[in-house]
Amino acid sequence: MTTQKNNAAPIALFDSGAGGIGVLREVKKLLPSEQLTFFGDTANAPYGERPVADIRRLVLYHAARLLESAKALVLACNTATAVAVEELRRLYPRTPIIGMEPALRPATSVKESPTVLVLATAATLHMEKFDHLEEIYAKNATVFKIPAPNIVRLVERGLSDSPEMDAYLDTLLAPFRRDPPDAVVLGCTHFPFASAAILRALGRNVPLFDGAKGTARELARRLAKEGLLAPKGSVGSVTLTASDPRSLPLLASLYCETEI
Ligand code: DGL
Repeated sequence: MTTQKNNAAPIALFDSGAGGIGVLREVKKLLPSEQLTFFGDTANAPYGERPVADIRRLVLYHAARLLESAKALVLACNTATAVAVEELRRLYPRTPIIGMEPALRPATSVKESPTVLVLATAATLHMEKFDHLEEIYAKNATVFKIPAPNIVRLVERGLSDSPEMDAYLDTLLAPFRRDPPDAVVLGCTHFPFASAAILRALGRNVPLFDGAKGTARELARRLAKEGLLAPKGSVGSVTLTASDPRSLPLLASLYCETEI
């Protein structure tokens, strides 16, 4: 398999759709001199309710394509990570492949025996990887796992903070409004874009945890370790690409709306 070991090569960031833009933003903040190429498979999003074999096929196909020119790959997608990160690391053993997983560790550290609500895709919550995370980090916690596919759909339609999102979350999170959790894990990269609506639906200021910053830090650490950071004096860039080009304005607006 061909992969770039050239430190001037771009870093590819992949998501099923627009959610990974939040990760892109964190990577840009931490590594401003890098060439960043984001790809959202918006023609095939959402991934979260597809059969695992289907998700796997899509992730492997796009990863192979992106790694023809990239020196590293960030799976800015919890679902793609849960389904395919191990196989990708076997296929590209010399390339940094950075995955994401629901931020259960910080969320379960908020107090002694917390109740933690984990919002993620059905695929992420049903994979063995998640059971494993729960075994390690959630021994003393009560964990509620709720798939929230319509958050993905609404974010993809540019409706992250909208009456439609409020209506969906009010119903989905009604039991937690009566009895709020101590922490919420946003285990899908689309969900931080709906943070305001999630807090409104919960009716109080519960701490929210997502993996975007940690993923950016892990990427920086791996690139430094492998001698793959951009050469000194490099001017960084961001390129947004998508399998459905009609979603490019959405990707651009999500990237620009939050300050860098
Ligand atoms: N953004 C993705 C994640 O982090 C998946 C959303 C989807 O396509 O269902 O899990």
